[in-house]
Amino acid sequence: MSLHLLHQFPRLELLGAPTPLEHLPRLSDFLGRDIFIKRDDVTPVAMGGNKLRKLEFLAADALREGADVLLTAGAIQSNHVRQTAAVAAKLGLKCVALLENPLGTASENYLSNGNRLLLDYMDVEIIMVDALNNPAEQLAEQATRLEAQGFRPYVVPVGGSNALGALGYVECAQEIAHQSEGVVDFAAVIVASGSAGTHAGLAVGLEQLLPDTDLIGVTVSRKADAQLPVVERIRTSLASQLEVSATAPVTLWDDYFAPRYGEPNEEGMEAVKLLARLEGIFLDPVYTGKAMAGLLDGISQHRFRREGPLLFIHTGGAPALFAYHPSV
Ligand SMILES: Cc1ncc(COP(=O)(O)O)c(C=O)c1O
Repeated sequence: MSLHLLHQFPRLELLGAPTPLEHLPRLSDFLGRDIFIKRDDVTPVAMGGNKLRKLEFLAADALREGADVLLTAGAIQSNHVRQTAAVAAKLGLKCVALLENPLGTASENYLSNGNRLLLDYMDVEIIMVDALNNPAEQLAEQATRLEAQGFRPYVVPVGGSNALGALGYVECAQEIAHQSEGVVDFAAVIVASGSAGTHAGLAVGLEQLLPDTDLIGVTVSRKADAQLPVVERIRTSLASQLEVSATAPVTLWDDYFAPRYGEPNEEGMEAVKLLARLEGIFLDPVYTGKAMAGLLDGISQHRFRREGPLLFIHTGGAPALFAYHPSV
């Protein structure tokens, strides 16, 4: 099994070292099953999260093209925009972000605290839009505007999710394989599946390296039938660039994101509190709380195909906890 082509893609060294893979002893005792966690919430730039791995490849591409602006889009509380802005800052590039308010909320904390607060500290140029209905087109329009002003923008897709960005999660799968080798045999890996670069990258990497381990994507914005083509599009393109096959079934659990993207639910927030109370680890209200709710329910409903230890990918997002705290 070989992923040797991964190293042919230019990348910036932003991560520095593998993220920790830890056993969670108190959660494991509580659940009666061994749970491990991959700490991509503590990647070393701007409060961490999964986007740094994607940006190692995307920002290298931007520099190769001679860009002087990183242009991207997301929700007001996007973790992706925060991390993209931080990488732009580190590289001395301007950052421009299209932001939407997917909940239509007027909550003061949502509008100005959490991730949004940090964008101002990084001097991001913000363009508010009514909705990101067609982000690729909306980003292309802004790129044209910036070019007319003499800039050289590089469009980072929503969530950093294309085949190039997803290479970062093939790399994460390699870390998981190394860190678990001879130590633990995971029955399943559980990850939040949104714009799907994280899920697709892990799918390609794990199919090559840990083929007996199931990968479960817990959706955060779509039902499984709508999410499947999003995952498959990136997975297919990635697998062809790496010249490997990717034919394992894609497993999506879509029972945990209601009522909708960006709106917390009770099970997700209970999962946030459980990890905080038992392990001193902060999940987030939009992605990892809901994904952990899936893991917890999956255990109680016997949804996992195999017995044995589970690995949860902590993709970050805790800065949004401040944004979702009700204003008083
Ligand atoms: C904290 C967190 N977890 C998970 C995800 C989902 O990752 P992906 O968009 O690659 O599916 C995101 C994406 O924004 C995120 O910010």
